[in-house]
Amino acid sequence: GAPVEVDVSKLAPGQMMTVEWRGKPVWIINRTEEMLASLGKLTDLLVDPKCDVPQQPEYCHNETRSIKPNYMVVVGICTHLGCSPGQKFKSGTVEGMPPEWLGGFLCPCHGSTFDFAGRVFKNKPAPINLPVPPHTYLADTRILIG
Ligand code: FES
Repeated sequence: GAPVEVDVSKLAPGQMMTVEWRGKPVWIINRTEEMLASLGKLTDLLVDPKCDVPQQPEYCHNETRSIKPNYMVVVGICTHLGCSPGQKFKSGTVEGMPPEWLGGFLCPCHGSTFDFAGRVFKNKPAPINLPVPPHTYLADTRILIG
């Protein structure tokens, strides 16, 4: 499939948009300071906090898993059996998650949970983090995916 160009200039902090790339949903989130601060807090509960798996692009091997800290770009398909983990949620809504949990994504199929960098938590079946698709910035708020 062709690369997809996305204008994120209207994406306010805390908002999420979904674009289609190669038939897959790609989520782009303009993360708030609070969301970014949450990424350092529960890292011992994550399967792969530093995103060490080699098949991910090199610019996601950091805590935010992103080129620019605030913009998260991930493929929104659960790495367990391919459901869509859906909208972001807040703390207190997921059994088994600690109270420090500030939110992320919940897969409705078998309960895998992901943080605001798409990193998966250990206690559920999805084996690896949500994939970061290849992408570049054409300008400050224009992203080319693919
Ligand atoms: Fe997401 Fe099974 S498909 S937890």
